[in-house]
Amino acid sequence: MKVVIVGSGYVGLVSGACFSALGHSVVCVDSNEQKINLLNSGGVPIFEPGLDELIKTNIEQNRLAFSTDLKTSLRGADFAFIAVGTPTRQGGSEADLTSVYAVASEIALSAEDGLVIVTKSTVPVGTGDAVEAIVRTSRPDLVFAAVSNPEFLKEGSAIDDFMNPDRVVVGCDVPWATEKMKMLYEPLRAADAPIIHTGRSAAEVIKYAANAFLAIKISFINEIADFCEAVSADVSEVANGIGHDKRIGRAFLNPGPGYGGSCFPKDSLALLATAQSHTVSLRVVESSIAANDARKRGIGRRVSSAFGHSVRGKTIAILGLTFKANTDDMREAPSLNIIAALQKMGARVRAYDPEGMEQARHYLQNVEYASDAYNCVEGADGIVIATEWKEFAALDFMRIAAIVSHPVIVDLRNILDVHKVETAGFELHRIGSPRRSETASIQAAPRLLRPKVNGQGEHSSAAHGSIRPVSNSLALQNRYPIKGLA
Ligand SMILES: NC(=O)c1ccc[n+]([C@@H]2O[C@H](COP(=O)([O-])OP(=O)(O)OC[C@H]3O[C@@H](n4cnc5c(N)ncnc54)[C@H](O)[C@@H]3O)[C@@H](O)[C@H]2O)c1
Repeated sequence: MKVVIVGSGYVGLVSGACFSALGHSVVCVDSNEQKINLLNSGGVPIFEPGLDELIKTNIEQNRLAFSTDLKTSLRGADFAFIAVGTPTRQGGSEADLTSVYAVASEIALSAEDGLVIVTKSTVPVGTGDAVEAIVRTSRPDLVFAAVSNPEFLKEGSAIDDFMNPDRVVVGCDVPWATEKMKMLYEPLRAADAPIIHTGRSAAEVIKYAANAFLAIKISFINEIADFCEAVSADVSEVANGIGHDKRIGRAFLNPGPGYGGSCFPKDSLALLATAQSHTVSLRVVESSIAANDARKRGIGRRVSSAFGHSVRGKTIAILGLTFKANTDDMREAPSLNIIAALQKMGARVRAYDPEGMEQARHYLQNVEYASDAYNCVEGADGIVIATEWKEFAALDFMRIAAIVSHPVIVDLRNILDVHKVETAGFELHRIGSPRRSETASIQAAPRLLRPKVNGQGEHSSAAHGSIRPVSNSLALQNRYPIKGLA
């Protein structure tokens, strides 16, 4: 079958490469000429594990091509996918559908009878109706169908998510188009992927409801992490304990600096805006957005508290810039809030990310970029792990201890091995962790008698925006002498 994908970004490129790998003939179209030129010269504009090879193989098999020319690409096409961006409207909270509607109008001009126009972009309920109306108005006699087929891939594991999906949702109210969609996804169905057929409106709601639910899960565990800090419990143990409940599940129960990325923040907002326009209040979604905003606003203060509440004139090394690991996507990355806050407080920021530094330059100013993690932390007064790249957990912390100015690490992703890092002499601050020394004192004394700790590196409770150092005694003992000893 011939598939045209309009919009060759994270979703369009991955979907296009995967559809071609499933045996379809695919043209990925984009209005960005530079992007298409790069793709046609063998380059790939984004980092996504496995994407380069998949694209290369399918170009060689003559199943995948790239073009800026939608009109020509649509000749003989069975499907036209819309996979353009739907950012938050400037000055508002609803989704900006300008690109979706522009593409629908353009498709209408060259569509042939039998075309299935599929919206893969994340769009508010009712957008399918609008796309249909745009095409119908432009081409009253055209035989076509407008279908919703939201995408659930995750950046960083996008190819696997597409090829082995938890489910494929096809929202279609036209029987012949449903049959065509079944043929399109037949290779996945044959491999046991659940294909869920719904009405078009339901499919549009499913995507937003799924993202809002995942965002709520993250906000929930972040608040539970704050609670754990206040009561000296370990949030990882709590997450495991509740995550084993099949009704809850362990995924998305990792506390951190607040969710970011190109989807959760904008989609939660857009869902809320759509609901409000239908005079429905979604209080849980609203609270999750507010909790996440507060968390991201407060993250700089949390980090600085670990560095003695003062970062003025200090060099802080930021390891990880992208909103999550295994992508180069910087959209709404928590690192942006952290760096802005630290800079405002007078810190010098040096940063390193395995894949995101090129993108980061578009978002950040006055940041010194390092060539690798060791180069980044050299002479630093503090280290912040802002993204959960595996390579950071595998660093040689003995080596790092010998080159930093002050051995303090704030692990905002809880990825570091506590024993390894502490043995190297670091004061390690994690999210939602008790102090081990404090745990011991709790066991020895009734809670009401527990002394308040206000020494260096120990700053009140989560309510005041601190992150608990894991081990007070070891950390204090090793606060400054490491460099000298090395
Ligand atoms: N990124 C994700 O992880 C993800 C996952 C699921 C769903 N989505 C949704 O998929 C959609 C696309 O997201 P993305 O991250 O791939 O966006 P993106 O910004 O990476 O890509 C969008 C592409 O569309 C192109 N484009 C814009 N207007 C165009 C036009 N008129 N004609 C042709 N091309 C045009 C842009 O040049 C860009 O290359 C969004 O609605 C998003 O919410 C994204």
